[in-house]
Amino acid sequence: MSKPQIRPAEGARYSRILGVGGYRPVRVIPNSEVLEWIDSSDEWIRTRSGIEQRRWAGPEESVAEMSVQAAGKAIAQAGISPEQIGGVIVATVSHLKQTPAIATEIALRLGCGTAPAFDISAACAGFGYGLGVADGMIRGGNAEYVLVIGVERLSDLTDKSDRSTAFIFGDGAGAAVVGPSDVPGIGKLIWGSDGSQADVISQTAAWDTAFAKPDAVNGAGDELKWPALRMEGQPVFRWAVWEMAKVAQQALDAAGITADQLGAFIPHQANMRITDAMIKALKLPATVPVARDIAETGNTSAASIPLAMERMLESGEARSGDLALIIGFGAGLVYAATVVTLP
Ligand SMILES: CC(C)(COP(=O)(O)OP(=O)(O)OC[C@H]1O[C@@H](n2cnc3c(N)ncnc32)[C@H](O)[C@@H]1OP(=O)(O)O)[C@@H](O)C(=O)NCCC(=O)NCCS
Repeated sequence: MSKPQIRPAEGARYSRILGVGGYRPVRVIPNSEVLEWIDSSDEWIRTRSGIEQRRWAGPEESVAEMSVQAAGKAIAQAGISPEQIGGVIVATVSHLKQTPAIATEIALRLGCGTAPAFDISAACAGFGYGLGVADGMIRGGNAEYVLVIGVERLSDLTDKSDRSTAFIFGDGAGAAVVGPSDVPGIGKLIWGSDGSQADVISQTAAWDTAFAKPDAVNGAGDELKWPALRMEGQPVFRWAVWEMAKVAQQALDAAGITADQLGAFIPHQANMRITDAMIKALKLPATVPVARDIAETGNTSAASIPLAMERMLESGEARSGDLALIIGFGAGLVYAATVVTLP
């Protein structure tokens, strides 16, 4: 007797982004306010990072609330109903409860029925990681529509006295609905990690260390100090400039697209100088619009690419149907790049 054979899931041939939406917290923090916490200058922050202001979430603007707002816009733009969503992926490093994942609450609040919902921790590459997983779910036949959310409240993890990070981070949420498509709308994902550099961006201490020995976190003293994000700016900067331009080029090559065919370049909003260095390395024609959302939004990690994408589409800098090169990179270290058709 022949062995029974499992019937495999069968999905769509291709997938694409059908809708994108963002949420930006109400409270704007200009550089002048940052100068109340650290010894710096508006000029230094602008020229070294390109940041003019960032937004920090208020008490009501929780990770879940910002996600629901952003996702609602993405779902409306996709023209589907929440019940049709067959997967909710939330990329975040700033949901402060270890378990359960925040994705299940978000799925419930959006009305996504019993859709599988889970968080992924891939820092500033989180949106790209989520997009890759969503593409696999749809083409593998395990979901028809998948919601990918990148959301952060990095202000909760920022040490306002740390000169090397206090001016960088912002809060916000960006979301995309990914669904089936007759034509390819998401290229091969070029993604990876380098655990040998895990220390260059990380939380100052694990929760157990922080609670057991508070002075291990932020210096001596008995007071329990909240762990924050710590970063070695220069190694991160060098890695981003040298290695990530190569990854971006690989994503273009894998998609069979040349730089001059792009309608937008949407890199993770880490630092305007990193973006400029990548533009040079990729020999990006001056005609290709580049996301520069960092000036007003700061570095919002997993939220930065979908937020920048939404802004470019809303402002008319990029148009629906254009090809966009996206690349995220950050703590892990991790990275993810691909070419997508804009919704
Ligand atoms: C953080 C970053 C903007 C710092 O810029 P930098 O040019 O590397 O700055 P450095 O740390 O070399 O410091 C240069 C000088 O500025 C000073 N400096 C550092 N922070 C400062 C601040 N906030 N304000 C004013 N001066 C500052 C330093 O003391 C140093 O002074 P010195 O030359 O007299 O010693 C930059 O390294 C960076 O963007 N790195 C990547 C960050 C990133 O992308 N992170 C996210 C990845 S997801």
